[in-house]
Amino acid sequence: MSGSSRRVAVVLGARGMLGSELLRRAPKGLEVFGVAREEADVSRLDSLRDYFRRVQPAIVVNAAAYTAVDAAEQDRAAAFRVNSDGARNGALAAREVGARFLHVSTDFVFDGKATRPYGEFAAPNPQGAYAESKHAGELAVAAAGGDWQIVRTQWVFGARGKHFVGAIARAAAERDRLTVVADQRGCPTCTHDLAPEIWRIAEEAPAGLYHASSMGECTWHELACEIVKLLGRATRVDPITTEDWNRMKPGSAPRPAYSVLEKLHLERTIGCHMPHWKDALAGFIRRGDQ
Ligand SMILES: NC(=O)c1ccc[n+]([C@@H]2O[C@H](COP(=O)([O-])OP(=O)(O)OC[C@H]3O[C@@H](n4cnc5c(N)ncnc54)[C@H](OP(=O)(O)O)[C@@H]3O)[C@@H](O)[C@H]2O)c1
Repeated sequence: MSGSSRRVAVVLGARGMLGSELLRRAPKGLEVFGVAREEADVSRLDSLRDYFRRVQPAIVVNAAAYTAVDAAEQDRAAAFRVNSDGARNGALAAREVGARFLHVSTDFVFDGKATRPYGEFAAPNPQGAYAESKHAGELAVAAAGGDWQIVRTQWVFGARGKHFVGAIARAAAERDRLTVVADQRGCPTCTHDLAPEIWRIAEEAPAGLYHASSMGECTWHELACEIVKLLGRATRVDPITTEDWNRMKPGSAPRPAYSVLEKLHLERTIGCHMPHWKDALAGFIRRGDQ
């Protein structure tokens, strides 16, 4: 399928929130194939092997994941099948065809007890089934060898898929008053900025572990207030605690109280091009992507 002059890249999880943006923002000079679950199921090594042998990718970006954080508490096996076995299968199959494997991971690998941004080599201590399955995936990718990169990101929103920004925008249109958790800090990151950054890392950065998220930090409550302000709504946003939330939604998975990512490795290698989260959010709302 691939000619000698063109470089092929494959995006796994191409219909997801990040995967779909990776396709839209494919760099010039790369022929990018988006792969959905029906074409290549990451939980099946043979299905990835077949696909990679056919298209001979130089780069594989793994945006496929089991992302139902709360449901994972009840279905650990499903989360591990995709997030851990799937990551290992992708890394092994990519290695077999000599492709670089860029695996997308999460701030949830950290326990959230820090009070300053987590560096790339801070010790993970995942809490909850989703977090543990994602951490297991990171370990599996590194153990598979080959030319691997892991890119951790956080608090993602984008033009497709379900996310906090869309949920608050919809709720603010319908209700006068919202309650939002005010004791978890992270950094909202838009796929519009993250997708090109991931392509730059895949094409230009050395192998290894990276953090890629917006600049700055905030709580979910501060983010909700900013969304409401930018949309010109009068909706009142009241702060609540994680404890209040868990009382309202029993069975919720644990979430890190603090998970801001430091982007030192990115800054020291190819530079970090991520905007401040407020600029990213303003652009998102200006484009009408919510
Ligand atoms: N969303 C966030 O806030 C966030 C934060 C930090 C890190 N991340 C990470 O970012 C990455 C992308 O997340 P996202 O938010 O874009 O997730 P998403 O919208 O849920 O997309 C995940 C995609 O993976 C696909 N998939 C699931 N199981 C699969 C399988 N067995 N084989 C092949 N494809 C499969 C899904 O396919 P179907 O459409 O068929 O279900 C879906 O299209 C993930 O690694 C996630 O852990 C996300």
